[in-house]
Amino acid sequence: MKMEVRFLKRGFFQRLFGIPATPKSKQQAGWNVSSGMLIIDLNKTPELQNAGNAMRFEGKNLPGRVLVIYGEDKQYRAFENRCTHVGHRRLDPVPGTRTIQCCSVGKSTYGFDGNPIYGPAPKPIKTYPVQVKGNELHVFLFEQLTESRASGSS
Ligand code: FES
Repeated sequence: MKMEVRFLKRGFFQRLFGIPATPKSKQQAGWNVSSGMLIIDLNKTPELQNAGNAMRFEGKNLPGRVLVIYGEDKQYRAFENRCTHVGHRRLDPVPGTRTIQCCSVGKSTYGFDGNPIYGPAPKPIKTYPVQVKGNELHVFLFEQLTESRASGSS
């Protein structure tokens, strides 16, 4: 699957108000933050069991908003959920493209390595290393994923 820019179908007002397509985790009990990690109980997060889905994690004692996607290639990826353009709006994965895109009017689009490839975003977004441990997904919030691991080329 190659990386290309495609626009997610969103309504005008959804873009104007920055309403993302990706839902927030309903199961607040299904995740917590400990030792610099976001720890997600995958049994309690059925949304992340289907390839192509994504979920956003916000609140509690998270240092920032996090977007977790379970890609069409069945790999988990995690990003800081904050566009680097001035509105700092939330991001959504775009099916079939290996990209994530700002929900705002500017539609800044980033590759899985975090680098911007379309739109007004001036800088990359943070990509976090992840690890599956049993039923848990660990997201390392204070580490930065290297480019080759983020793009899945290793
Ligand atoms: S806030 Fe993302 S493009 Fe403007």
